[in-house]
Amino acid sequence: MSEIPDNAPLRTVEWVDGQLALIDQTRIPLALEYVRLSTPEEVEAAIRTMVVRGAPAIGAAAAYGVALALQRWNGRDAFERDVQRLRDARPTAVNLRWAVDRAASAAAPWLDREDPAGALEAVLREAHAIAREDEEANRSIARHGLHLVPEDSTILTHCNTGDLATVTGGTALGIIREAFRTGRRVRVFADETRPRFQGLKLTAWELGRAGVPVTVIPDGAAASLMKSGQVDLVIVGADRIAANGDVANKIGTYSVAVCARAHGVPFYVAAPTSTFDLSCPTGQSIPIEERDALEVLEPAGLEAPPPGARVFNPAFDVTPADLVSAIVTEKGILQGDYVRAIRDLFAPGA
Ligand code: MRU
Repeated sequence: MSEIPDNAPLRTVEWVDGQLALIDQTRIPLALEYVRLSTPEEVEAAIRTMVVRGAPAIGAAAAYGVALALQRWNGRDAFERDVQRLRDARPTAVNLRWAVDRAASAAAPWLDREDPAGALEAVLREAHAIAREDEEANRSIARHGLHLVPEDSTILTHCNTGDLATVTGGTALGIIREAFRTGRRVRVFADETRPRFQGLKLTAWELGRAGVPVTVIPDGAAASLMKSGQVDLVIVGADRIAANGDVANKIGTYSVAVCARAHGVPFYVAAPTSTFDLSCPTGQSIPIEERDALEVLEPAGLEAPPPGARVFNPAFDVTPADLVSAIVTEKGILQGDYVRAIRDLFAPGA
């Protein structure tokens, strides 16, 4: 493990000496190691293989990937191909496309003047701004979200939404950590989050090192814990939020939301405004990534499904807005009529 003290926040995405440094999330909790990347292909691969994962973290990483594309300048066509490869690395989290488009737009006027060096400087400024804004947004999300956490409460969460899923600070986990830091008595149930175990490997590790009491449960245990009154509230993150408040998040989130509604448990979503996609009127237009069957098979010690069976491995699902009690953003808490609240959130001057 590294020298980072246990309670210090982690920086998941950083620009160091002309390279992109990422915490290798495939190694946690066994090792806290950084990888250094120098090409857009390496960044694309890191996103696809989940060395870096979590919507805001992959967005920031890809923005720096655009800088790496300019650093090895091979002409405009090659640059456009690099931008496209980064944009397409994963389909569901809209932060990826949003951040790549922001970085590429910063480059465009300089490239029109055939000045790739100027474009590199502009893209680095933009990528640093994306990283800084994510950190600031997470601080505000934690502050706003605190109002939803009772003094003494048990919180259930799904997947990972901590430092590791963002540049630093976390979204849903940022709220939980802030509640603990400011003296609330909070305990957490972390769904293990099959098939990639973000809850077991990442969330439990992050909460453990922050001193927050955490119990990992199999995903299927959430319903009975809610039924027996052991969960006071649910907080999860998001990969994309449609204009009507439908929320795409890690597969299994929808089941948690249905159970929460059935047992009268509030179900909250925490996400920065970079996770909203107004071009999707509802969750139906959000593309859902399907990942390799081996992700399901390997934890069971199998290389192939039993004869005659297939594996289907969707990485995300969509929770309809009517199951969401509130959405916490850096600009405040949205509740009630999400169509109006989201329209107001993005109104010019808001
Ligand atoms: O497949 P992953 O691990 O990238 O999925 C991540 C999630 O679903 C997170 O809950 C989401 O990105 C919110 S991160 C603040």
